[in-house]
Amino acid sequence: MNTMKAVQINSFGPESRFILNDVPIPRPTVDQVLIKVEAAALNPLDNIIRLGHFPIPAKLPHTLGTEGAGIVAEASEDLKKKERVFISGGGLGIFAPGTFAQYVAVDRRFVRLIPDFMGFDEAAAFGLVSLTAWLALRDRAGLKEGDRALILGGGGGVGHMAIQLARNWGAHVIATFSHPAKVEKAFGLGAHQVIDLSKQDLVEEVHKTGHGIDIVLDMVGGDLLPKALIVLNPRARVISVGYSGGAISPVNVVDLLRLSAEIRGFNIFMVEPGRLQEALGSILADIQEGRLKVLIDKGFPFSEAQEAFQYLLSRKAFGKIVLRP
Ligand SMILES: NC(=O)c1ccc[n+]([C@@H]2O[C@H](COP(=O)([O-])OP(=O)(O)OC[C@H]3O[C@@H](n4cnc5c(N)ncnc54)[C@H](OP(=O)(O)O)[C@@H]3O)[C@@H](O)[C@H]2O)c1
Repeated sequence: MNTMKAVQINSFGPESRFILNDVPIPRPTVDQVLIKVEAAALNPLDNIIRLGHFPIPAKLPHTLGTEGAGIVAEASEDLKKKERVFISGGGLGIFAPGTFAQYVAVDRRFVRLIPDFMGFDEAAAFGLVSLTAWLALRDRAGLKEGDRALILGGGGGVGHMAIQLARNWGAHVIATFSHPAKVEKAFGLGAHQVIDLSKQDLVEEVHKTGHGIDIVLDMVGGDLLPKALIVLNPRARVISVGYSGGAISPVNVVDLLRLSAEIRGFNIFMVEPGRLQEALGSILADIQEGRLKVLIDKGFPFSEAQEAFQYLLSRKAFGKIVLRP
C-alpha cells in the first residue's frame, strides 16, 4: 500500500475546509525519519496558515499540522523501528507537509524520544504551548517570585501552561476566561484569582484587589489588551504572544509611559535552538514530577478534522485538542 489518508486544504482563505484526501506515503530523504502518526495537535497557527496569513505560502493541496507524536516506521541510523517519538519544530505543516497524516517524514533533528511517562496525545500537544509559555514568561517577561502575573486567555493551550508555570515560579496568578465552565479548572491548575469576562470586568476585578499587575501574558489582544494596560504596576512588562481576539488593539501610550511600562512581542520561531532545548528539558522534568499537566480537552479522528477545527474556534476547549488517525 503506497497511499495514506491526510487532512488537507485545497485553497487559502476563510472558505477553505479540511478535506481527508488519499495521498502518497512520503519517502524520507537520508536526513529524515518516517513516522507513523498516532496523535497530532491542533493549534491556532493551523488556522492562520489556512487563511493564507502566514508569510511563507505552502504549496496546495497542503497537509496541515505542526506537531505530532507516533512511532518510527522505518529504522534510521539512531532510531529503531517502533520507537515512540514526538516532533518538535522543523516547519511541518507550514512549508512542509504536516502531521495531520498517517505518515510524516521529518528531519531527524526535530524528532525526540517520548519519555515513558507520556502518552501520544500529551507528547503531540505539549511542545509549542509549553515552550511558548515558558520562554515568554521567563525570558521576555523576566517573571520573578512575588510578581503579580495576569494571563489573558488562561484556558487556551498556552494559557493553561502559563498559569501553572507562573504559579510554580512563585507568582500571584490572575487569569481571564470567557466562560463560567472554565473557572473551576483554572483554580485547579493553581490560579489565585479568576476573572470570568462573561460577567466580570477585568479593570474592576483587578482594582478590587488593591494591587496592580507586574506581568501580562497576552494571548488575546483585541479589546482586552487595552484594559490590561489600565491596571499595570510601575515598570510592568506586557508580552504580546497572540491575537486570538483580534490583531488590532488600540493602545493608549500614556498607560505605558507614565509607569515606564513596556509591551514586548514574543515569537517562538526567533528563539535560539539551544535555549529551546534548555526550556524543553525543564518542561519535561516538570511534567515527569507532576508539577506541570498537559490538559487534553478532546480528541477527534482525522475524518472529523473540520469539527475539531470548529471546536477550537468555539472557545469551549480548556487545554489542547488533538487529532488521531
Ligand atoms: N508568538 C508565538 O510564538 C506563539 C506561539 C504559540 C501560540 N501563539 C498564539 O497565541 C494565541 C493563543 O494560542 P493557544 O494555543 O493558547 O490558543 P487557544 O488554545 O485557541 O486559546 C486561545 C484562548 O484565547 C481566548 N480568546 C479570547 N477571545 C478569543 C476570540 N475572539 N477567539 C478565540 N479565542 C479567544 C480563548 O479563551 P476564552 O474564550 O475563555 O477567553 C482561548 O482559550 C494564538 O493567537 C496563537 O496563534 C503565538
